[in-house]
Amino acid sequence: MSPGTGAALRLLAATVDAKAVAEIGTGCGVSGIHLLHGMRPDGVLTTVDPEPEHQQFARQAFRAAGFASNRARFIPGRALDVLPRLADAGYDLVYCDGDRLEYPEYLAESLRLLRPGGVVVFEGAFANGRTVDSGPQPTEVLRLRELLRTVRESQELVPSLLPVGDGLLCAVKR
Ligand SMILES: C[S@@+](CC[C@H](N)C(=O)[O-])C[C@H]1O[C@@H](n2cnc3c(N)ncnc32)[C@H](O)[C@@H]1O
Repeated sequence: MSPGTGAALRLLAATVDAKAVAEIGTGCGVSGIHLLHGMRPDGVLTTVDPEPEHQQFARQAFRAAGFASNRARFIPGRALDVLPRLADAGYDLVYCDGDRLEYPEYLAESLRLLRPGGVVVFEGAFANGRTVDSGPQPTEVLRLRELLRTVRESQELVPSLLPVGDGLLCAVKR
């Protein structure tokens, strides 16, 4: 993750005064640390990943960064299995950095999870320039284009594509 993307995540979490954030794709915890820094001191990050080893690594990284263990809830599993179990309108921000093929479905779930005024964020919207490349592209890129179209046309969302890192697509839910 680029420093610009990390700073944008902190900013967004602070802007919505985030008490509850859902993250899809825990990875090694880099984005989680940025989100935790921007959230309220009593905020809880719920983070989902199918790889237990990744979550174990992130747990250690959060501890090393000085966050108490009760600031993060680790849920092992695939996003589309786990997200339906999370509370409607219970989240201030949803950060999506899991399987690119599933991004359109993450948007649908995020709209249910977010409170009005909450923000959904997608990492990697540029796909290293392939999103706007007119040559043949893999399904992953076609799914990203589908996501961008849906977000742009939604009456429920106020979007902006931030040119940080590999493109950070953000949208506020009205
Ligand atoms: C790019 S990495 C995330 C990096 C992380 N945000 C960070 O900053 O360290 C993508 C992660 O998504 C996870 N992932 C893959 N498929 C997923 C799915 N269906 N649901 C949730 N997470 C998934 C992978 O295991 C991997 O850890």
